Amino acid sequence: MHFDEDKLKQYYENPPEDISLDDVDMARIPRHVSIIMDGNGRWAKARGLDRSEGHVAGVSSLREAVTTSVRLGVDVFSVYAFSTENWKRPQHEVDLLMHLFATTLLKELPLFFQENVRLRFFGDIEALPEETRKVFEEGLEKTAGNTGMTFALAVNYGARAELVRASRLIASEVAAGTLSLDDVDEDAISSRLYTAGLPDPDLVIRTSGEMRLSNYLLWQIAYSEFYVTSVLWPDFSRWDYLRAVKSWQGRHRRYGGVEAAS
Ligand code: FPP
Repeated sequence: MHFDEDKLKQYYENPPEDISLDDVDMARIPRHVSIIMDGNGRWAKARGLDRSEGHVAGVSSLREAVTTSVRLGVDVFSVYAFSTENWKRPQHEVDLLMHLFATTLLKELPLFFQENVRLRFFGDIEALPEETRKVFEEGLEKTAGNTGMTFALAVNYGARAELVRASRLIASEVAAGTLSLDDVDEDAISSRLYTAGLPDPDLVIRTSGEMRLSNYLLWQIAYSEFYVTSVLWPDFSRWDYLRAVKSWQGRHRRYGGVEAAS
């Protein structure tokens, strides 16, 4: 996707010692970057703060990561914000997260317009508290005409639930006679997932050092590269993002135009 060179250079001014914009090949930016944001609670605990403070700090990191994705020219940027398992957290934390999602999205709508970003959601957003659901629907509607990067938030998302949903859709279409059994192939499944129409992630980043997928995009990440950093989500910066892209590019060296793992 297109990126603005001047804006990008300005964005990446004053680099730290180990990484700079010169370390990445702007002709080979991953099309879809996805992040499993983790470590808000630990970040807060380490500072003697309430977990909620970690989530609030995590919002700033997310804002920066969206901007970074746009500056680098990523086509699709997605994040795992709330899983189907996260309902088991204490009620006050769930309430806070739902409220934070709604208020953040409302507040950031101007940013989405400024950057021509289109919103998308992975997960069952119908089941969310009304405030959050309404803001999400408003965000979807208002940004539908934007033609730049797609920003997808996985909320009330679980990959197994997503696959069950797709299976049911397919079964009901087969039962109704609108889909033949012979047409049930990989495309038939992909097109019934929340990610329908989007490229699979090229790069999946997980913060806070955990080596787990946590029921995230199991179908879509069959061939994705994984990058785990010990940085906690509220500390994740544009430079950490660049480190991840550099690492991904190192694994995707082109030999005579053919992509091969190094
Ligand atoms: C993980 O930290 C992060 C989450 C539960 C997701 C919430 C993300 C945010 C609040 C960022 C902003 C998002 C939006 C959509 C506005 P954790 O609580 O699992 O951390 P821990 O593993 O250290 O306990």
